[in-house]
Amino acid sequence: MSLKTHTCGQLRPEHADQTVTLAGWVHRRRDHGGLIFIDLRDRWGITQVVFNPDISTEAHKVAHDLRVEYVVKVTGNVRRRPPGLENPDLATGEIEVLAEEAEILNPAKTPPFYINEDSPVEEALRLRYRYLDLRRQRMQRNLILRHRVIKFIRDFLSDEGFIEIETPILFKSTPEGARDYLVPSRLHPGKFYALPQSPQQLKQLLMVAGYERYFQIARCFRDEDQRGDRQPEFTQLDLEMSFVDREDVMDLIERLFTAIVEQVSDKKLLFKPFRRLSYYEAMDRFGTDRPDLRFGMELVDISDIAAGCGFRVFAETVAGGGVVKGLNASGCGGYSRKQIDELTDLVKKFEAKGLAWLALPAPGGAAQVGEEGAVRSSFAKFLSDEQVQAIIDRLDGKPGDLLLFVADRPEIANEALSRLRGTLGERLGLRDPNVLALCWVIDFPFVTWNEEEQRWDPSHHLFTAPMDEDIPLLDTDPARARGQQYDLVCNGYEIAGGSIRIHRRELQEKVFNLIGLEMEDAKQQFGHMLEAFEYGTPPHGGIAPGIDRFVMLLAGEPNIREVIAFPKTQSAADLMAGAPSPVSPEQLKELHLKLDL
Ligand code: AMO
Ligand code: AMP
Repeated sequence: MSLKTHTCGQLRPEHADQTVTLAGWVHRRRDHGGLIFIDLRDRWGITQVVFNPDISTEAHKVAHDLRVEYVVKVTGNVRRRPPGLENPDLATGEIEVLAEEAEILNPAKTPPFYINEDSPVEEALRLRYRYLDLRRQRMQRNLILRHRVIKFIRDFLSDEGFIEIETPILFKSTPEGARDYLVPSRLHPGKFYALPQSPQQLKQLLMVAGYERYFQIARCFRDEDQRGDRQPEFTQLDLEMSFVDREDVMDLIERLFTAIVEQVSDKKLLFKPFRRLSYYEAMDRFGTDRPDLRFGMELVDISDIAAGCGFRVFAETVAGGGVVKGLNASGCGGYSRKQIDELTDLVKKFEAKGLAWLALPAPGGAAQVGEEGAVRSSFAKFLSDEQVQAIIDRLDGKPGDLLLFVADRPEIANEALSRLRGTLGERLGLRDPNVLALCWVIDFPFVTWNEEEQRWDPSHHLFTAPMDEDIPLLDTDPARARGQQYDLVCNGYEIAGGSIRIHRRELQEKVFNLIGLEMEDAKQQFGHMLEAFEYGTPPHGGIAPGIDRFVMLLAGEPNIREVIAFPKTQSAADLMAGAPSPVSPEQLKELHLKLDL
C-alpha cells in the first residue's frame, strides 16, 4: 500500500518515535479547542491521531475541516500515550500519532446512519446503502469470519485429496424442488438456460468422469419464497465422493465442521461426536426433522391415555386416527389465562384447533390430584383422577409445571408443538447462543405421498438411492422404503443435505417410474445422466452444506443476510442497485421476447 506505511491496527509502543503515514476513514472527531483528536479507522483497526497547532498549524487546519467518514492521509510521529490516558479497549490504545501533515483524500456527506456505533438501523436503509453498512464493525466481523471459514474449508479438503472444480452457471434445469431462474437465449430463439439450483447433476457427472473427490464453493439459485434463512442466490459447499458409503461422507463432514467450530469460531460444540436421530425419532420426539437440540422439552404422546377419555376433543381425535401430543413447559405453571391464550394463538397459526393445558401449582400449594386446588386445567375435569395422574406422570410433571397438548392429525400436532417448543425455549432462555448442537438426521422415508398431485415425491431429490435392503419395497410398499439421505441440523436449522446416489441406470429408471415421470420426459430432462450411467459409473455420494446458514450460526446472527455482503430483500430485490430492473425494447427483441404484463 504505497499510500500508507502501517495499518490503523498495527502500531504498538515499540513503534514510538517512528514517523509513519496512516490512511483511512475518520471514525470520530473530538475538538478540544486547541487539540483535535481523530480516531482514524481502516479494516485493521483504529488509531488515535492528535492534531496540535504547535506541531503543525497546516495539519491542524485540515483537522478542523474533517468530518466523520472523510478519507484522510496523515503523517506523523508515534508516541506512547501519557500514563493514565491509555485505552485498553483498543489494540493500539497505548500509542497515538502526532500529526505533522494531513491531506483530505475524499470528503464524505453525512452518512444516513451511524457507522461508528452499533445502533439499530432499519434494514431497508442498511441495504440501500450497503457499502456504508459494510463499514460497520459487525458486518466486517461477519465477512472476515466468512472468509476464514471458506479458506479453512478449501485448505482442509485440499489436504484430504479433494479438488475444486467450477461448474457452469448457465445450465439446464436441475430439480431441487424450487422454481428455476431462467435465462433466455439470443442464439437459440425460444430456448432457455436455467441457473443451477445446485450443481447436483454436474458433480455426479464428475464422479462418472473419475475425479473421485470434488468440491466447490458453489453459488446456487432458487426462485422460492424467501425467509430469514433463505436467499434466491446462496452459497453451498458442494462436494461429492466416489467409492464411499454414508458413513464416509458423514465422517468427513463431522471432522470438517468440528475443526471449523473449534478453530475458527468462539462457539462450543454440544455433541462430540454429533448426535444422530432417525427421521422418525426426530418427528416423534421433536415434531420436526430439524430440531433444536440445545434443550429438552420433548414432545410426548398421550394418545393411549386420551383414547376414550371424557374430553371429546381428545377422544374424537384419537378415534379419528389422530394423536394427542404434549410438552412440559417446566416452571410455567403460574402462567395467566392471557399468557396461555397467547400460546394458543401461536399454535393456531400452525393450524392447530386449540391448545389444551394443565397447570401444576408451585411447590407448597400442591395437593393430591383430585383434591381442591391440585391442578388448574382446561380439560382435567372431564377425566378421571387416574387419567390426569397418568398424563402428569407421562410428561414428568412437577409442581410449578405447565403441560400443553394438541390433538390433531400427526403432521399438525407435530408442527404446532415444535413451533411452540421453539418459542418456549427462546422465552425460557434455554437456547444458549454460545452453543452449537449438531445432529445428523438419517433414515428418511425415500418418498412421500403428494396428496394434491396423487403421486409419490422424492423426499430429497431424484438421484438419491434407496437403502439397498429397501429396494424391493419400491414395488410393494414405497411408503416404508428408506432413502440413503442424511441431513445435518444445527440449533433448529437444516445446514446440510446429502445422500448416496443411484449409480445404475435400471434403478434410476425405476425411481423415475415410481414418482410418475414418463420415460419420454425423463429422457428429455435427464437423458445425459441415464446415458452416463452406462459408461462405468462408480458408486458415489455427497452432500452440500449451506455456507450462509452455517456462518450465520457461527456468527450468532439471526438471519443469513447478515453474513452476505450484498443480499436481497425478502421480496428478492436488491435495494442498492435496484435489481431486478426493466430492460430496453432492443434487448428484449434480441432475445425474441415479448412482455405480457
Ligand atoms: P439441499 O436442497 O438440501 O441439497 O440444499 C443443501 C443446503 O443448502 C442450503 N440451502 C439454502 N441456503 C440459503 N438459501 C436457500 N434458499 C437455500 N436452499 C438450500 C441449506 C441446505 O441444507 N444438491 C443437494 C445436495 C446433495 O444432495 O449433495 C442440495 O442442494 O443449508
Ligand atoms: P372448546 O371445546 O373448543 O371450547 O375447547 C376447550 C379447550 O380445548 C380449549 O382450551 C381449547 O383450546 C382446547 N382445544 C380445542 N381443540 C383442541 C385440539 N384439537 N387440541 C388441543 N386442545 C384443543
